[in-house]
Amino acid sequence: MNDHALRVYDSILGLQCDADNPTPLVRLNRVAPFEHTQVYAKLEWYNPFGAVKDRVAANLVSDGEERGTVHAGQKLVEPTSGNTGMALAMIANARGYSLTTPLSSEIPLEKRTMLRFFGADVMELQDTLCPAPGAPEGAIAKATEIGGRPDFHMLNQYVNEANPEAHYKTTGPEIWRQTAGAVTHFVAGLGTCGTITGTGRFLKEQRAGVQVVGVYPTEGHDIPGVRSLRQLQQTQLYRPDEYDAQVEVANQQAFDLCLRLNREESITAGPSSAMALAGAFATVPDEPGNVVVVIFPDSAFKYASSVVKHLPQLARGAQAGNGAGPNPLLERMRENVRGNPELTIDVDDAHEQWRREKPFVLDVRPAGQYDEAHIPGAINIPLAELGENAEYLAVLPRDFDAPVLSVCQRGNASLSGLLFLKSLGYRNVRSINGGTLAWREKGYATDSE
Ligand SMILES: Cc1ncc(COP(=O)(O)O)c(C=O)c1O
Repeated sequence: MNDHALRVYDSILGLQCDADNPTPLVRLNRVAPFEHTQVYAKLEWYNPFGAVKDRVAANLVSDGEERGTVHAGQKLVEPTSGNTGMALAMIANARGYSLTTPLSSEIPLEKRTMLRFFGADVMELQDTLCPAPGAPEGAIAKATEIGGRPDFHMLNQYVNEANPEAHYKTTGPEIWRQTAGAVTHFVAGLGTCGTITGTGRFLKEQRAGVQVVGVYPTEGHDIPGVRSLRQLQQTQLYRPDEYDAQVEVANQQAFDLCLRLNREESITAGPSSAMALAGAFATVPDEPGNVVVVIFPDSAFKYASSVVKHLPQLARGAQAGNGAGPNPLLERMRENVRGNPELTIDVDDAHEQWRREKPFVLDVRPAGQYDEAHIPGAINIPLAELGENAEYLAVLPRDFDAPVLSVCQRGNASLSGLLFLKSLGYRNVRSINGGTLAWREKGYATDSE
């Protein structure tokens, strides 16, 4: 017998959520910019396998079992951005199935590793972060091909109505009961759209006035699990006519709010949770009686590599000297070369040299800043890593007389890059005064990743 009050279960599957065993709703007290509107986060990592997708995986499998498409010893295949795969892998283990997951190699290493750890057969493909149905070499095409084989079955969370149905049967009733019917706004990030479509439908059936808000990231984002407006057009369960509002949130805004959620609310939310929350802040008015529930799909623990990319202050070495102020030794070394015409170069001259000679440009900023905008062709080796990894030697020019420019954000850290290159034996190196900011102010071309 499963006993939710005592939290004693016959098996791990007994922990799956429903109105009697809901995931927690936690009030946000510090980050919300409201005086009257109450904001609650629904913490989906309290599902047994760590994400909102546990609900979907369980319903996809039980629906398949009921229909007879999934039976003893079944080989399952599913294209997945990670969370559905992880939940399916665990349910497959518990119920005696196997799982093959074709996925994009851009999915965070943490998720790919855990899928293998859970026992899935992971096939890494050159695909976008969110699998695109049209891509012939992509995860969806591969899974469809494998799913066509007689011994395999593809559950297909992108089209299967059992996906939104999972939320209609569990997430919606949980929220209705947990708020005693007081919920006025329901906000969710848009991925397969199972969450918003299923939960939104249930809540609107209880009270038609409940506002359903979908949140999506800007084009070119790298928030796992969610889709830009263009990517959403390929998603069959995306039913915009059933939502009251949709709002776009910028990548960096999501990562910045993610940091605040962890530090100010002590809620270990991941990036797509923060994206949804930023969308709620942008759309819900501050009025007495408003009760907002925002889905927080999973926690930050799977996303160390993503958050470091966007919050460069977290990178190894970036916090060295914190509290101790600037490093006087480093400053003295930089002062010795700052303004030296043999070793530094003004941004206009650097641009002219870049245009004429195509020098080797070493950008020593953290990866996040480099990704945003860098001199075309520049190679990024963050200063903190420059002396750490012998492999970087292979990236640098072989000719010690080759022209080399060192660049950073403002022309300070690049002086250390210059000294490092000098100490390796490069004779023709200069540091760009004013750095990438000065380059951009002049309107010179940059690339982004
Ligand atoms: C981390 C994360 N956030 C958000 C979502 C979006 O949920 P849905 O697919 O139900 O739209 C997903 C789904 O994959 C996810 O994994």
